[in-house]
Amino acid sequence: MQRENKKLCQDQSEGVSTFNFPPYKFRLAFMKHPDLQVNIGGIKLKNPVMTASGTFGYGREFEDLVDLNRVGAIIVKGLSLAPSKGNPPPRIAETPCGMLNAIGLENVGIEAFEKEKLPFLEKLSTPVLANIYGKNIGEYAKLAERIDQIEGISGIEINISCPNVKSGGIAFGVDGGVANEVVRAVRNRTGKPLMVKLSPNVTDITEIALSVEDAGADSLSLINTITGMAIDIETRHPKLANITGGLSGPAIRPVALRMVWQVVQCVKIPVIGIGGIMTADDALEFLIAGAAAVQIGTANFVNPRATTDIIEGIEAFLAKREIPSVTNIIGTLEV
Ligand SMILES: Cc1cc2nc3c(=O)[nH]c(=O)nc-3n(C[C@H](O)[C@H](O)[C@H](O)COP(=O)(O)O)c2cc1C
Repeated sequence: MQRENKKLCQDQSEGVSTFNFPPYKFRLAFMKHPDLQVNIGGIKLKNPVMTASGTFGYGREFEDLVDLNRVGAIIVKGLSLAPSKGNPPPRIAETPCGMLNAIGLENVGIEAFEKEKLPFLEKLSTPVLANIYGKNIGEYAKLAERIDQIEGISGIEINISCPNVKSGGIAFGVDGGVANEVVRAVRNRTGKPLMVKLSPNVTDITEIALSVEDAGADSLSLINTITGMAIDIETRHPKLANITGGLSGPAIRPVALRMVWQVVQCVKIPVIGIGGIMTADDALEFLIAGAAAVQIGTANFVNPRATTDIIEGIEAFLAKREIPSVTNIIGTLEV
């Protein structure tokens, strides 16, 4: 009798019972490896974890530390038409639970990016998104036209939310009408998937979200940094040469989460959550709130492997609960 019981258990564990559906073997497979794939406004990702622009260089800087083929997508440092040196130093200051930065969009420019940085990225199986900014709407449009011709770039993230540049940047992201115009201009020049990155430095983020959705955005990413400042009390100088900067890191996570939740409820396009995500649990909060994917920023400075650690953590969370796909968790917030 004992032997018979043992045999029955064995049969079931091998999935031979015709009444055992879904087959045990199959359940075991997805329990170990839940499906992490997501589709973000026309871009297929193997998992929902991307790098946030400006915190992962042009990807290659992390080559020795991170398996770049495991990351959902790489979003490179914000690119402009011409190279830019950014703001003078000091450009970074630590704050409780975060950091202030006023880099001012230092970058190599689109031409050098295509020639010098992209060939490395093209060898990866990971989609690459170009984050772009212009000093005026014409510059955004020209960049879009140029990127449209570059095969190795899977999509464009339009930065209308940088608080650290004198012209452009945030000026386009705080007024629904202007934001609409920028996105329309870019939409007219490219068929590539468009993600629009929103600023939290507004009264009502849903108004801007609706306005850029109407202009043809395929997805939204939020939030960019929150404007802040810090003072050295000995010298009585601002800690940043730019005086103000953008606050990022865990300090901004609850604000980002609230904004993502608000935006998810009013738009039809996918929303990507950004802001202080340091661990898989943080990322899961955003996914449960309705984000279709997340971006990891400041965490990369603390733990260069944050992206892949978070991917593994999400996978383990789903596997433990026998949830077959990450899409089963998105937008499951109960209120
Ligand atoms: C040093 C630094 C540079 C950044 N550069 C850019 C950039 O070039 N373009 C952009 O859209 N966002 C930029 N950001 C904003 C991040 O992509 C992200 O939206 C923000 O830091 C919030 O996420 P986090 O709290 O995970 O860092 C930068 C942030 C930091 C800290």
